[in-house]
Amino acid sequence: MPSTIRTTTLPSGEAIQVLGQGTWKMGEDSRRRADEVNALKLGLDLGLTLIDTAEMYASGGAEEVVAQAIAGRRAEVFVVSKVLPSNASRAGVQRACENSLKRLRTDRIDLYLLHWPGSVPLAETVEAFEALRRAGKIRHWGVSNFDTEDMEDLAGLPDGGNVQTNQVLYNLVRRGPEFDLAPWSRKRGIPLMAYSPVEQGALARNTGLDAVAARHNATAAQIALAWVMHQDGIIAIPKASSQEHVRQNFAALDIKLTAGDLADLDRAFPPPTRKRGLEMI
Ligand SMILES: NC(=O)c1ccc[n+]([C@@H]2O[C@H](COP(=O)([O-])OP(=O)(O)OC[C@H]3O[C@@H](n4cnc5c(N)ncnc54)[C@H](OP(=O)(O)O)[C@@H]3O)[C@@H](O)[C@H]2O)c1
Repeated sequence: MPSTIRTTTLPSGEAIQVLGQGTWKMGEDSRRRADEVNALKLGLDLGLTLIDTAEMYASGGAEEVVAQAIAGRRAEVFVVSKVLPSNASRAGVQRACENSLKRLRTDRIDLYLLHWPGSVPLAETVEAFEALRRAGKIRHWGVSNFDTEDMEDLAGLPDGGNVQTNQVLYNLVRRGPEFDLAPWSRKRGIPLMAYSPVEQGALARNTGLDAVAARHNATAAQIALAWVMHQDGIIAIPKASSQEHVRQNFAALDIKLTAGDLADLDRAFPPPTRKRGLEMI
């Protein structure tokens, strides 16, 4: 069992764990609610304190699941939530944040992200984020599904340099960001948060991982996660609603991939050789 959970550093200087818990698809079915809450609670018991959610998930239902899981232990938790681009105006962000705070039953969101680029001018959204930060409603803000050019645009705005992360689709079968986005972000000390790190469960069944998994007495999903997390400045946020998956994901922190493992994975899942547009799920 890992004695300490590895962290990376946000531009603010704050440490953030490299393994978090996702919540997409949670809160959609009341019959699964107890399992979802218990899975998140188990993660917290193991020390996985980063939880990722969004106003979009189950139209707020996932935030309510998170509220139930973190009840009575808010201080331990680093809550990430997201505002929809359709709510990204100055007044819209303010309102969306208040609604998320109510559903999460908390007075602050640790990291608030713009879910993907939309039609509201980015400068307005950044101003709205900064106003929320001054008011103490959010501690940090960031973005999601921003490609390199979007990040360049953001960096050129007043206060754009306060961005703390960019959450993007990144895993062994979605290696596009390695070509330019990951180096761009690493150079500026902005961690990438890799969503769908097991490709929504598909990598757990991908035989291309079997040989490496066998060497580590691990599952394919664990190798997929270990691979995301072995890289500097990358955070993985798998979603697991089963306690067994939470335990396995936690144990993936202990897997040390060797140079030989990495070479085998590069052969099975080749890195990009040219720029590809950022993919979204
Ligand atoms: N910013 C964005 O646009 C965006 C987009 C997509 C996702 N996200 C965030 O990223 C999180 C993760 O992405 P995701 O939910 O799309 O996909 P994911 O984490 O890659 O995959 C989740 C699926 O994998 C299964 N799983 C988890 N751990 C496993 C393990 N150890 N072995 C086998 N199967 C395992 C889960 O099963 P069980 O649930 O049955 O345990 C679930 O079916 C989301 O929940 C969300 O918070 C953000």
